[in-house]
Amino acid sequence: MPSLNDIRSTFLDYFETNGHTVVPSSPLVPRNDPTLMFTNSGMVQFKNCFTGVEKRDYVRATSSQKCVRAGGKHNDLDNVGYTARHHTFFEMLGNFSFGDYFKTEAIPFAWELLTKGFGIDASKLLTTVYHTDDEAFEIWKKVGVPEDRIIRIATSDNFWQMGPTGPCGPCTEIFYDHGDHIWGGPPGSKDEDGDRFIEIWNVVFMQNEQFEDGSMRALDMQSIDTGMGLERIGALLQGKHDNYDTDLMRALIEASAHASSVDPDGPQNVHHRVIADHLRSTSFLIADGVMPSNEGRGYVLRRIMRRAMRHAHMLGAADPMMHRLVPALVTQMGQAYPELVRAKALIEETLRSEETRFRQTLDRGLKLLDEELGSLPEGAALPGEAAFKLYDTYGFPLDLTQDALRERGREVNIAGFDAAMSEQKAKARAAWSGSGEAADAAIWFELAEKHGPTEFLGYDTETAEAQVLAVVQDGAAIDAANAGDTVQIVVNQTPFYGESGGQVGDTGLLTTEGGAARITDTRKVAGVFIHFAEVTEGRIAKGTGARLAVDHDRRTMIRANHSATHLLHEALRVALGDHVAQRGSLNAPDRLRFDFSHAKALSADEIAQVEREVNAFIRQNTPVETRIMTPDDARAIGAQALFGEKYGDEVRVVSMGTADTGEGADGQTYSIELCGGTHVTRTGDIGAFALTSEAASSSGVRRIEALTGAAALAELRGRDAALSEIEALLKSDKASVVERVRALMDERKALANEVGQLRRELAMAGGAGQGAAVPEAREIGGVRFLAQVMNGVSGKDLPALIDAQKARIGSGAILLIAEADGKAAVAAGVTDDMTGSVSAVDLVKAAVAELGGKGGGGRADMAQGGAKSAENAAAAIAAAEKVLEG
Ligand code: ALA
Repeated sequence: MPSLNDIRSTFLDYFETNGHTVVPSSPLVPRNDPTLMFTNSGMVQFKNCFTGVEKRDYVRATSSQKCVRAGGKHNDLDNVGYTARHHTFFEMLGNFSFGDYFKTEAIPFAWELLTKGFGIDASKLLTTVYHTDDEAFEIWKKVGVPEDRIIRIATSDNFWQMGPTGPCGPCTEIFYDHGDHIWGGPPGSKDEDGDRFIEIWNVVFMQNEQFEDGSMRALDMQSIDTGMGLERIGALLQGKHDNYDTDLMRALIEASAHASSVDPDGPQNVHHRVIADHLRSTSFLIADGVMPSNEGRGYVLRRIMRRAMRHAHMLGAADPMMHRLVPALVTQMGQAYPELVRAKALIEETLRSEETRFRQTLDRGLKLLDEELGSLPEGAALPGEAAFKLYDTYGFPLDLTQDALRERGREVNIAGFDAAMSEQKAKARAAWSGSGEAADAAIWFELAEKHGPTEFLGYDTETAEAQVLAVVQDGAAIDAANAGDTVQIVVNQTPFYGESGGQVGDTGLLTTEGGAARITDTRKVAGVFIHFAEVTEGRIAKGTGARLAVDHDRRTMIRANHSATHLLHEALRVALGDHVAQRGSLNAPDRLRFDFSHAKALSADEIAQVEREVNAFIRQNTPVETRIMTPDDARAIGAQALFGEKYGDEVRVVSMGTADTGEGADGQTYSIELCGGTHVTRTGDIGAFALTSEAASSSGVRRIEALTGAAALAELRGRDAALSEIEALLKSDKASVVERVRALMDERKALANEVGQLRRELAMAGGAGQGAAVPEAREIGGVRFLAQVMNGVSGKDLPALIDAQKARIGSGAILLIAEADGKAAVAAGVTDDMTGSVSAVDLVKAAVAELGGKGGGGRADMAQGGAKSAENAAAAIAAAEKVLEG
């Protein structure tokens, strides 16, 4: 009996032998279609080959495509578990011709593979054709199908469309008769919904393209797209009637039975089936970069996960169970889909954390559901408000509630649910008031309300197709923009990163059929990504399809800088201590900047250590990993978060580097941070790191600037050249030069100290070079006041002098005016007991104004300011006295 893995190989081998290129499955999130939520058939990745927009170096292809049907036009979620053939995840085997062969070859190919390759009894097969398709009818006759088993069908069942738009065409379907012991009639008959005649293969004659306005045009070339569900053909070839009895699905059901200790075939079988199916869709979605969230694709994933988790709960599983089934799935499918092996740990962790969290509300939610139902008349629908409460408070997606009610033969009042949802949105809208900034323009909130947040695809791709939802000019929506216009464009999904978390927005190109625009920046307001655009060609209109491409080189540099910032952060903590915390950052293409809490300047040794360490982790070249978890879980694994920042229910955690690779290494992750930015795939992609400056940014905060990649190399080469010069100099007489330089430096330090001390002493004695007596304090406005003018003293010596004078007078106010190097400096001090009646800031401001300077500032007990000259010192002192007099 062939396994599903054998059947997949037989299919691909057959078409490869017949001149087809075996093409790997494309990801479940379509890169080339803005209208599709998930890849739902084998032809999705070839969509543009059918329309002729894309040319590949083959015209015949074959694939086994991962598909998810759990949203949009093809949605099977609700039936999974209860029927023999519905899945949210399945594999579609297909052969494709792009303008190469057509009906006369496609039909015999299918027939030969089924009857010879798979050895299916031809007398059990029957086919359907579109009612007007005489040509297909004749070809089937020719391969040997009796006329009475070629059925003409007039409905859309024999006209295939992938979605509301795109390539489409009439099709011919092949059915298998499972025998008269099963109820059902042939296709087109009144009993066709029965289970006797099962469709196994659909062969589409791609010859049209459907447009959004309802029109359809004939394609220039005639192509072939076929689809055969691996699970169905598998069931047939394994002599089963139910897809869930095939070897692969059975292995997953048994894993579920084992994990829950519940009989796989007993009355609880439906739960095992739901779990087996949902395990596949959730695992493959996570492996393809989808993460559970409350919007878009992430929400569909969450719905599927939670639905499975309720069924696990019904099996009586005391602990989270889904993640324990992942190894069984990887054993079954890892060879055909290596991405599952690569993402195994991520899948397990995502499932475990989601299930742990959902279990906290699941019990209470189910109890509430029971109570609600208990108070309703027999068979009545659940009121919408109750379903909404389950959704809002207990995290029950609507379809989970519906699924729970289905077992009891009840329904949800959907209209009531929708009304409760709208009411909540209206409240949120009323509660929002903008901050008055331009970026807060009401239009973005209106767009967020109307279309929901923009789906960001840029973690996994730099190009994507999208739909233009709005074109905005000067804060108002317009229908279209023309060449020369500067506008903002909003699309439904985008690979462009919107400025946030220190990472700058992406730039790149947006093209539509009628025009092109340069995207100069991308920002985010209320979840809406705003693409700042300069229309360069033609016209960009709302409602059209667009292709978006991020400037790859620029994004690559931004990624390197952002990842390097994480390594830098950790290297600083290692070098300086755990008090180092991020205070700000910039990740631009050409540089990175990192502000962090630390009281004093870094020494040359510390700087060298940090730079060396970051480069060591770059060379370590370990993969950069991203996970989604709760903020608490993230903190538990030691993730660095921004202090005081508000995080939602879920955070993205980026980790890189292995901390200790020496003997006895514990393999701890080096850097773990909460971060929404884009990162390199492996640390080696950063290339190199060069720290270019270290300085104070504000009180207690230091700022480091650095370069990565080619710029870092250039910087390091420059340093190298300078070093070589010094080395050459030293070579002349190395030892003596070094000694001499050291001695000179020591001497310089000692002299500087001495000069400073002398200066202060002199100043206290009345001013450098003046020899004047120290003035005495006088009483003005009830405050002891001491004013002094000094020459040859610089501003930076004044605070120490103020402190000394404060100690001398005990209580009162001091004003010092100093002149040195052609500048005047003013400082005022007020002893703590007097700050209630006079502020040093006011004294400085008054004095500075008289000296022709501007401003001045500080605290009530100490303030400073500056001016060009101290010529009017007497007037400045008088002004300060006026302040004291009040
Ligand atoms: N694209 C066709 C289908 O999915 C073959 O049925």
